[in-house]
Amino acid sequence: MSESEVVLTEIRGRVALVTMNRPEKRNALDGPMRCAFLGVMDRLNRDPDVRAIVITGAGDKAFIAGADIGEFEGRGPVEQYRAMKLPTVFNALEQSPKPVIAAINGYCLGGGMELALACDIRLASSSARFGQPEVNLGIIPGGGGTQRLPRIIGQGAALKLILTGELIDASEALRLRLVEEVCAPEQLVERAVALGETIASKSPVAVSAAKEATRAALSLSLEDGLKLETALFQLCFASQDKVEGVRAFLEKRLANFPGR
Ligand code: COA
Repeated sequence: MSESEVVLTEIRGRVALVTMNRPEKRNALDGPMRCAFLGVMDRLNRDPDVRAIVITGAGDKAFIAGADIGEFEGRGPVEQYRAMKLPTVFNALEQSPKPVIAAINGYCLGGGMELALACDIRLASSSARFGQPEVNLGIIPGGGGTQRLPRIIGQGAALKLILTGELIDASEALRLRLVEEVCAPEQLVERAVALGETIASKSPVAVSAAKEATRAALSLSLEDGLKLETALFQLCFASQDKVEGVRAFLEKRLANFPGR
């Protein structure tokens, strides 16, 4: 199944594999690709048969090498302001009710790194390279990098990457906990889809609620976070998934969650 030429989608079981497809431009994010990606996310978010999403880049060189730098040339501040006020691919990932896994298969730079930061889980190929090289262009990260990166790897490590613009390899990314796992390049997508399938076998109601509550931990006070957790727990408690999950345990069988 294909949504558009620049963003491909393929359904593997209960997992949607989304491929950013501009390999000749190292999958740089331009306007049409952002627009197509938002359309794909909206469709996948509404599809009850899709229970996890994996994002990767076409080709063997790049995940996403950042925003399309060509679009910056000749663009004025008002035009850029308007572009940045549009719905963003970063928020679409963070706010998706589905779990999203980044399968980072090469250069993961600038806006590409910011897109990965907005995913829930990051897996990297051993050949991946990471960086926020915006300072080389006289700009700063504008897709959430200054906010999400320190929340994930801590302020010192984030400042080192953002201020130097230097690239790091996959083993350093793993050491910094920027990624959760490093895989052999040929196993990356398979591993990401398998992880997606593991999550897909759980209650979709519980997975969505768990994502929302866990993500809120970084922006809410402990008190407010605990209130949100309790409210989402109550939601799960009222679901058919909870009835099925508890019954399946007591009947010593695997649960078959309806997702309601
Ligand atoms: N925006 C627009 N075009 C990009 C791009 C980007 N972010 N990243 C790569 N490309 C284009 C190149 O201009 C080149 O196009 P061309 O063949 O028409 O000249 C093509 O992709 C291949 O890039 P090239 O530099 O030849 O490939 P490489 O494998 O030697 O190097 C990178 C790959 C990613 C290291 C290098 O392209 C790069 O540094 N890109 C910019 C990264 C960046 O600064 N991102 C942050 C943007 S805010």
